[in-house]
Amino acid sequence: MLSKVVRTIARPFDERFNLTNRLHESLLDKPVPDHARRYYFCFGGIAFFLFLTQAITGVLLTMYYVPSQDQAYSSVFYISNYVNYGWLLRSIHNWGAQLMVVFVMLHMLRVYITASYKHPREFNWVVGMLLLMTTMAFTLTGYLLPWDQKAYWGSTVTISLVEKVPFFGKSMANIIMGGDKLGQATLTRFFSAHIMVLPAGLVLFMAAHFWMVRKQGISGPL
Ligand code: HEM
Repeated sequence: MLSKVVRTIARPFDERFNLTNRLHESLLDKPVPDHARRYYFCFGGIAFFLFLTQAITGVLLTMYYVPSQDQAYSSVFYISNYVNYGWLLRSIHNWGAQLMVVFVMLHMLRVYITASYKHPREFNWVVGMLLLMTTMAFTLTGYLLPWDQKAYWGSTVTISLVEKVPFFGKSMANIIMGGDKLGQATLTRFFSAHIMVLPAGLVLFMAAHFWMVRKQGISGPL
């Protein structure tokens, strides 16, 4: 039923732009080699799927969340208790974040164990590292947003670790916090990073990552 509806909507575009054939040539008609049909070759794809889930639930959450010192906590409380299925939205975003970290790590472990980081895929390993750091930055910035005691003190501890970096630590922490202690400026910065800077970075790095996988093909069997 659904596929019939999609085909009916797509037909006029397909007739004019030959989309189905192009989609088949560039994406669908690429056989997966036997050795790559194992579950552990799916970890990268699962991480990507989780990112899509995070993007959708994140956009829905921003419709109610208020990034202000006075209202952040109450807006999150409102989402959980009064918005229809708000509790479910928050839970999916929360579990999705944790699962994404787990699957990025598992994917990295798979790439390491199958030695897929070696020539000619060294650059893709480096881009992978950028993806890992961006994913971790997502969890750090997202953790502060509920602005409750756990978020405040958890982020205080994380930022105090940055302060320990020799020479530049103090100024780096001041830039992150937007001052010398956690406050409105920190919340605004973390929110802006969480919903704009980091998603833009992740999409860019993913595009480069997938382009390289496409160009170089999946690595061979051990
Ligand atoms: C958001 C994070 C990431 C996503 C969504 C992602 C996604 C993917 C996907 C879909 C593939 C194709 C095959 C597969 O799934 O194994 C792949 C391949 C690859 N990834 Fe990632 N990845 C991420 C992070 C990383 C990290 C952290 C590293 C390592 C530091 C890494 C290194 C690589 C390499 C070297 C390949 C080529 C593997 C091969 O040819 O066998 N990726 N990635």
